[in-house]
Amino acid sequence: MNLTIRPEKTKDYRIVEELTREAFWNLYMPGCNEHYVAHILRDHPDFVPELDYVAVVDDKVVGSIMYTKSYIVDEENNKIDTLTFGPLCVLPAFQRQGIGTALINKTKEIAIKNKVKAIIVLGCPYNYCKHGFKNCIDYQISNSEGKYPYGQLVLELEKGFFGKKKWKFFYSKAYDLDEKKAEEFDKNFQEKEKKYQPSQTEFTIAVRAYLG
Ligand SMILES: CC(C)(COP(=O)(O)OP(=O)(O)OC[C@H]1O[C@@H](n2cnc3c(N)ncnc32)[C@H](O)[C@@H]1OP(=O)(O)O)[C@@H](O)C(=O)NCCC(=O)NCCS
Repeated sequence: MNLTIRPEKTKDYRIVEELTREAFWNLYMPGCNEHYVAHILRDHPDFVPELDYVAVVDDKVVGSIMYTKSYIVDEENNKIDTLTFGPLCVLPAFQRQGIGTALINKTKEIAIKNKVKAIIVLGCPYNYCKHGFKNCIDYQISNSEGKYPYGQLVLELEKGFFGKKKWKFFYSKAYDLDEKKAEEFDKNFQEKEKKYQPSQTEFTIAVRAYLG
């Protein structure tokens, strides 16, 4: 497999949105919104263009990773910048060949060079623990309400940075999308059947689960 991880170009935008739709379709809800997230993210002030990468196999764009700025705050109100990725996706036919890993590794290296303290995501532990992510409770990084969500996962980039302090995590408002606009946006794509899959129930269980 001839795999290249390179920055996203303007000409990739629509292709990335299509592959994002393919990767997420019916996975966490009937249909999906992630292609709309990809579409609006690039123009959002929290978007991090230098970490906007695609995976290319033999000239075909098959994967994408996008990051936003996020931050944590300690009990004395000291604010530390962090990074959050999402959407991260690989076309179904190209999954389980190391492409997702390559996208994470490439961008993680850049984040480390830029002295970022942590990457914090809201996602499935199954996908991320193999990349060194731990649950946020291990670093005492709660959500803005002081709870420790099951899917709030932290990749510590500067070892020991979080120490014994307690932190709260704030992700970008870019992810709080308007579902009506997302539905309207989806009409620009080829019709696809929305249906139930058990992964949707797994997801609704996971998003209501907290550690503590
Ligand atoms: C999550 C996602 C991005 C992972 O991408 P991927 O390219 O499949 O990831 P990788 O191939 O690097 O790793 C996936 C698995 O393939 C395995 N793998 C990697 N290279 C392999 C190879 N050459 N042969 C066989 N298996 C391989 C990995 O060990 C891993 O195994 P595991 O799932 O049993 O731990 C992709 O599955 C996806 O787009 N999913 C839908 C969208 C989504 O859920 N995104 C994340 C939101 S939380």
